[in-house]
Amino acid sequence: MDLVIKNGTIITATDTYKADIAVEDGKIIMIGKNITQTEGAKLVDASGKYVLPGAIDAHTHLEMPFGGTTSADSYEAGTRAAACGGVTTVFDFVIQRKGQGLIEAVEGRRTICDPQACVDYSFHTAITDLTPEILEEMKESVEYGVPSFKLFMVYKKEGLMVDDGVLAKALEKSKDIGALIAVHAENPDLIDMRIEKFLSEGKTSAWYHYLSRPEFVEAEANKRAIHWAKAFDAPLYIVHLANKEGLEEVTKARNEGYEIYAETCPQYLHFTNEVYKREDGRNFVCSPPIKGKESQEALWKGILNGSIQTVATDHCPFQSYEKDWGKDDFTKIPNGCMGIENLYPYMLSEANKGRISFNKVVEVCSTNVAKIFGCAPQKGTIAAGSDADIVIYDPNKKFVVSKENMHSDVDHTIWEGIELKGYPVMTFSRGKLVYKDGQFLGTPGHGQFIKCKGRK
Ligand code: URP
Ligand code: ZN
Ligand code: ZN
Ligand code: ZN
Repeated sequence: MDLVIKNGTIITATDTYKADIAVEDGKIIMIGKNITQTEGAKLVDASGKYVLPGAIDAHTHLEMPFGGTTSADSYEAGTRAAACGGVTTVFDFVIQRKGQGLIEAVEGRRTICDPQACVDYSFHTAITDLTPEILEEMKESVEYGVPSFKLFMVYKKEGLMVDDGVLAKALEKSKDIGALIAVHAENPDLIDMRIEKFLSEGKTSAWYHYLSRPEFVEAEANKRAIHWAKAFDAPLYIVHLANKEGLEEVTKARNEGYEIYAETCPQYLHFTNEVYKREDGRNFVCSPPIKGKESQEALWKGILNGSIQTVATDHCPFQSYEKDWGKDDFTKIPNGCMGIENLYPYMLSEANKGRISFNKVVEVCSTNVAKIFGCAPQKGTIAAGSDADIVIYDPNKKFVVSKENMHSDVDHTIWEGIELKGYPVMTFSRGKLVYKDGQFLGTPGHGQFIKCKGRK
């Protein structure tokens, strides 16, 4: 064996128990009481600490061309920050450009990501041009190891948006080939109508970003997407869900037996739309925008009762000067916030403060993601045979988030000043120590592409 982690409390989605873990060649080979390490194996004493599976961020946008620029974290910076926040796998979005093949698009991104990735990664592909050939190629993508596709119901001027016909075709296809369709659900016509009105009235602050796409604008699209998924009896994953009414439709559909999944994000769980009235409100501009208190409370409830299955970041940061483009016009603010390094520490801190259980955090930040997207049990749990993606968490460590102690390339963080109870002290990626006590210890290129399994 290469590594033994002793005396820690192991926390999975279902269990909490004291045991030792032996690791060899990047895999967990044994879990048990009093494991004695063989000669040459490294020993980590986790007394008084929790031992958790690494988080899986199901939703990132690293070095993505978007909003007239490119999101500010490269694959290296984003996965470095991920490692330092206990995230050991990221699912990034490949954007299929017009006329581009799906595998071609994935392989293009792999070429960029492979030499940079500090932790393991996989992809979802955003389909923007669903020709008959692409519809056929979806099956090849499933076989290749990318069985999940995202459709944007908004972002017309960015060239990303698809209409209901495309959504319906993709859902119908997905059922046959074992793919999973994900949607960014907001109503584009309502947004355009409201933006036009606000701009004509000279209402240009970040608050009007929120008001141009408030709760009902998102809820309508949630309901429409669920309607189509039901019609084709196809599974559906709603990314970054942020409103109460849409969540109610998810709950209803799930109760009726449909395979509908909902993901929410830490920014929706911690902040409310009040942030858009702040002087730095533009830094919080993302789509869908952060909603009101009522939605926030519903999201927490949804996590607790299982209506929401995953919490992921939608990490898509931009530098301050880029956010400043929208100082006098909210429509010019590149959409997206940071969170890849904050996801697990924030959620675990909420557990440590008593809001939810640690097991639930592991479930929504890791285990469910692996199951839904087809990389379990290699990822998402602590078990013999699984990858040794392990986080050692000190429940007694106090941590205040600031730009200075974050590891991404972004010059600010919306999490500035947030006080956390407990913090990760070590992250192992396939048995390799990539983070310890505030220091990144990994290497670009260590991260591997994870092929996911389809649903057939
Ligand atoms: O504002 C956001 N969320 N930017 C990233 C792209 C997306 O919509 O997921
Ligand atoms: Zn070995
Ligand atoms: Zn989106
Ligand atoms: Zn996103």
